Amino acid sequence: MSIISFYKNGEVIAIGTILVSTGSYVPEQRLTNSQLTEMVETSDEWIVQRTGIRERRIASNMQTSELAIPAAQRALEDGGVSAQELDLIIACTATPDSYTPSLACRVQAAIGADNAFAFDASAACSGFVYATDIVDSYFRAGKAKTALVVCAETLSRLVDFTDRTVCCLFGDGAGAAVFRWSETEEGILQTVMGADGTRGDALLAKALPVEDALNGDRTYSHTDRFLHMNGKEVFRFAARTVPDAIDRVLNKAGMTADEIDWVVPHQANLRIIDVICRRYGLKKEQVYVNLDRFGNTSSASVPICLDEMRQKGLLKRGQRAIFVGFGGGLTYGAILLRI
Ligand code: UT7
Repeated sequence: MSIISFYKNGEVIAIGTILVSTGSYVPEQRLTNSQLTEMVETSDEWIVQRTGIRERRIASNMQTSELAIPAAQRALEDGGVSAQELDLIIACTATPDSYTPSLACRVQAAIGADNAFAFDASAACSGFVYATDIVDSYFRAGKAKTALVVCAETLSRLVDFTDRTVCCLFGDGAGAAVFRWSETEEGILQTVMGADGTRGDALLAKALPVEDALNGDRTYSHTDRFLHMNGKEVFRFAARTVPDAIDRVLNKAGMTADEIDWVVPHQANLRIIDVICRRYGLKKEQVYVNLDRFGNTSSASVPICLDEMRQKGLLKRGQRAIFVGFGGGLTYGAILLRI
């Protein structure tokens, strides 16, 4: 991908994938650190010091689509975009309502996006950056012009609330963004995506177990049912790959960190965010953080941040931002764009 421009009638014309609007939806129910201390042997101090998380939302008795649909509708409303204008919908979730139809097709049906093709992209916590990169690629190939990315998670359904190593970390929520191909603005400048499948077991949430369907015992074991994470290994992976992805995306764009206004990282752990701040000499105010209120909402975390930033008027036209994802797969990715 090359940055920016081509010539038309002797003039430099900017083209690119622009972020049009955002939306989000989180369930009402809060689960505080103090409530968790009544469920497992932990403390508010441990959770805050090791992660920065103070509370998270829980979607009790809700399907993931019930979060995704309002987030998508809010993103359309925010941009004054009609569902009919969408020609592509990509959804990301590790907790789909069903293997089929996909979450993207459920959203498509609910919002009435009759002209869109729709599918799910599976990249766990990197889902939003992967899906945005796919949108950008479709746009550049001339195969779509207006797209919705919607990321929604009900990770509480995968969490064992007797396992303190994971139950303090994750929360439920949904975020969405509308992108449009522009023939006057740059939008996305560069992207970098990566994966290391050899480390996949470090964050494992199994689907259907392997079994002898005709003759076997078909009960799920504990290992099959819940999410398991080797936190230290994922932390080390993030501390290595995230700065590397930021370096590479800046290099590809011929920019330096001091030209960046915002970094919007996946909200997993404040200590990982501190690593990014120190490495690039970023002020704390340049890195958006809301994990204290929502915990780790996997693929939804970056678009929920973006929606909050837009609602607060923090994202200004012309600013440059880097979105960063990392997590299950293991996967990572960074997107550099001009707002
Ligand atoms: O979105 C996907 C991406 N995921 C991530 O990025 C997660 C990255 N990893 C992390 O955020 C951190 O590794 C964790 C927050 C998960 C854990 O922090 P840590 O500093 O790596 O702690 P640890 O796993 O090394 O555990 C240290 C101690 C252990 O006790 P011992 O063995 O030292 O006696 C744990 O058993 O803390 C104990 N521990 C807890 N204590 C109180 C683990 N969980 C808890 C807890 N409350 N909730």
